[in-house]
Parts: sequence; structure tokens; C-alpha cells
Amino acid sequence: MEAIEFVHSKTRQAYNLLADKYHELFHNEMNEKEYDRRLLDSFAEKLKPGSLICDAGCGPSGHIGRYIADRGMAVTGVDISDRCVELASSFNPGMRFLREDIAKLSFEDECFDGVISYYSIIHTPKNLVTLIFKELYRILKIEGHLLVAAKAGSEEGFLSELIGIETEIYFSLFNEKEIRDYFVSSGFEIEFMEKRNPFDFEIKNERIYAIGRKL
Ligand SMILES: C[S@@+](CC[C@H](N)C(=O)[O-])C[C@H]1O[C@@H](n2cnc3c(N)ncnc32)[C@H](O)[C@@H]1O
Repeated sequence: MEAIEFVHSKTRQAYNLLADKYHELFHNEMNEKEYDRRLLDSFAEKLKPGSLICDAGCGPSGHIGRYIADRGMAVTGVDISDRCVELASSFNPGMRFLREDIAKLSFEDECFDGVISYYSIIHTPKNLVTLIFKELYRILKIEGHLLVAAKAGSEEGFLSELIGIETEIYFSLFNEKEIRDYFVSSGFEIEFMEKRNPFDFEIKNERIYAIGRKL
């Protein structure tokens, strides 16, 4: 098994355990996060109504993709965890969810107008994240947009606990240069990049947001 497959198999096992509590904690978070709502609105404005969007690493609530679907886009959510896909499907009737690894997707080349990766690269070793960017680039149409959210910092490695649940899961924190390099080396032009402080109720890391356009 390749290194990335090993790490992602741990991610799958972990989120199968974490999914229910993760949903309980975060499914309503958009109500409190005006910054993220504005960011997703500005992403939606780049797209035509009915555009095909992939929510890559949609989580158990599917609420980021749902926000975009409510703005007239056709969203497919994908996640590596069976339990996340099961829950997201049950909470969002009418939306499509699939179990997929975002480093190796089953979609054809150039079939999405937009891709959102909201905190889904954070469970991959930093030297392997390029593989995810290349895959997201592959599934995007020319001129399509990729939105990435990540947590800022420098550490990476396996943790033994997340949201109060014992589990083995990889966690990576990034700086803006690393995020920029992933975009540019995969063939994107950066249209937006910003770092923000965490809100009082969030885990205490700064967050990095970036949007790139496939050239
Ligand atoms: C921190 S959660 C974020 C969920 C959601 N995007 C949100 O913002 O609330 C990370 C999600 O990405 C998924 N994920 C992580 N690595 C993945 C991979 N290689 N392929 C597919 N999903 C992945 C996890 O299973 C988890 O549901």
C-alpha cells in the first residue's frame, strides 16, 4: 500500500468514528460564520446557475456543498468515510453523495465547473497534498475554480484524539506560501488568498482561504 493510501485509510476509519459527533458540533456553524458565508457567496458569483460543483471532503453534514446548492448549483459531495456519506445523504435529500478518495477520484477529466475543498487537505501529509491538487485540477473544466480552506501553522503528524474521541488521524497545518505553491504547481492562477483569525468559538488556529482558476 502506498503512503497516501495508508494515511487515507486511517482518515476513513477515524471519520467513521467521528462523523456523528462532528455533525452534532458543526452542522449549524454557517449561521455563526459571516466570513465563510461571504466567501462562499463570492465563489458562487464566479459560477453560472446550474454549474456542476464537487464538494471534496464534504463531511457528515454536507453543509458547505448545501450552501452552494441553495444558490442554484448542482453539487456532488464526496467523502472518504462511509458514515459521513451516509449521514450527509440523509440530511440533504436531493443532493448526491459518493464515497471517494479525493486523491484518486472516479470522475472523468474536466467534468466540474467548481470544486470546494473545505478543510479536507488537512488530513494528508504536506509532501503528498500535491497529489490532491493534481486530482482536483484534473476533474475541473478549463477556467473552472477551486476553493480551498485550511488551518494555518507548521506542525504535521498523527494525532491520537480529535473532538474528544480517541482515534489515529493525520493532521497538517499550512502556511500561505505552501498553499500558493500547491495551486501554482498544479496549474492554477490564484485569484484570492486570505488568512483570518479564528472566531472565539473555533479551534484556535488561523485559517487560510484561497481560490484558484484552472488555466
Ligand atoms: C475537517 S472535516 C471537514 C468537513 C467539511 N468539509 C466541513 O468543512 O465541515 C474533513 C473531511 O474531509 C474528509 N476527508 C479527508 N481526507 C479525505 C480524502 N482523502 N478523501 C475524501 N475525503 C477526505 C474527512 O472524511 C472529513 O469528512
